Amino acid sequence: MIVSNSQPLINVLTGHRSERRPIWFMRQAGRYLPEYRKVREQAGSFLELCYSPPLAAEVTLQPLRRFDLDAAIVFADILVVPHAMGNGLTFVEGEGPKLETVRSSTDLLRLKSGLKSVQFESVAASIGRVRRDLDPKISLIGFCGAPWTVASYMVEGGGSERELARKIAYQKEPWFKELISRLVENSIEYLCVQIGAGADVVQIFDSWAGELPEELFTEYSIEPIRDIVSGVKSRFPDVPIIVFAKGAGHRHGKVYSKTKCQAVGIEAESSVDFIQSILPVDAVIQGNLDPLLLLCDDDVVRKHTLKLVKSISRDRHVFNLGHGIKPQTNPDVLTTIVKTIRDYDHG
Ligand code: CP3
Repeated sequence: MIVSNSQPLINVLTGHRSERRPIWFMRQAGRYLPEYRKVREQAGSFLELCYSPPLAAEVTLQPLRRFDLDAAIVFADILVVPHAMGNGLTFVEGEGPKLETVRSSTDLLRLKSGLKSVQFESVAASIGRVRRDLDPKISLIGFCGAPWTVASYMVEGGGSERELARKIAYQKEPWFKELISRLVENSIEYLCVQIGAGADVVQIFDSWAGELPEELFTEYSIEPIRDIVSGVKSRFPDVPIIVFAKGAGHRHGKVYSKTKCQAVGIEAESSVDFIQSILPVDAVIQGNLDPLLLLCDDDVVRKHTLKLVKSISRDRHVFNLGHGIKPQTNPDVLTTIVKTIRDYDHG
């Protein structure tokens, strides 16, 4: 097949040959980088950084200056969607997100559409700035959270165990179904705003998908994501979509076929060999080096990186981690990983 686009990530996601294996890292912009910590301090709070387009664009571009990567991911958060819908949100230093809780149909009344919100507009402005300054060969990724993951943050009020959310899902509370469908609508709008502003690819993060038992998985993880994919595709049919249903394990096969996404992201706990065996031969897989490995000695890092890239052809692989980079990671480890992959692919 011919190379139709100058971006390696787009080529792989659209089934074309790529001159190189696309590489990016989840949470590549973040606290492990001293230059991020400096801008973060200047911004004041995490949310002020997310909603300041010049600063958000700056931190989005920082990892691209250090490492030979194929994608930038806009600096924002999956909780921008509930925030834009009018749900209270703060980030407590060292504790993570705190949200106003949604636990009844009355609570739903305060939620509005996120369209035209300062939150969506700021993220769009960050994307516009990044796209202007980014090498055209490097893809810009927009993203949102999947409805199950975002709804579970809204129900729980933060990042605790998903027990209340699972209980409500089992009970099939009508207001919870309504919350999921409002999140589907707003996520479609949010992704379309990001694509309109210059995102080349979008990723849907279902970080808590693995918490769903088998009988709830289709209804709460797959179907809402499928609806987002079809809503975005009806407006932007050519924009590739990556679905990261973390912890889906053997269910990644269903995630791929039912959502009609262009690639599945997989967690570190799954083996790439197994996931390849349950997907069609041309399906693209993203992942899945364990972020914990990045805290190990260089020879261990190199060994596991090589094992991963040897197990999957570069034409159907997007190199990534199985989850986000840990804040205590030494940035130089990323240089080692990227070099190991480039040397292997060119050797
Ligand atoms: O470089 C990138 O990956 C882009 C930016 C990005 C952030 N969050 C920045 C961030 C992305 C893609 C996300 C997605 C996100 N946010 C997810 C899905 C991926 C995953 O990790 O499972 C989730 C669940 C969230 C919600 C969230 N945001 C939590 C639970 C936390 C607290 C945990 C932590 O690491 O502190 C955040 C905060 C957050 N989002 C930080 C960053 C860089 C750290 C905050 C800081 O700098 O103070």
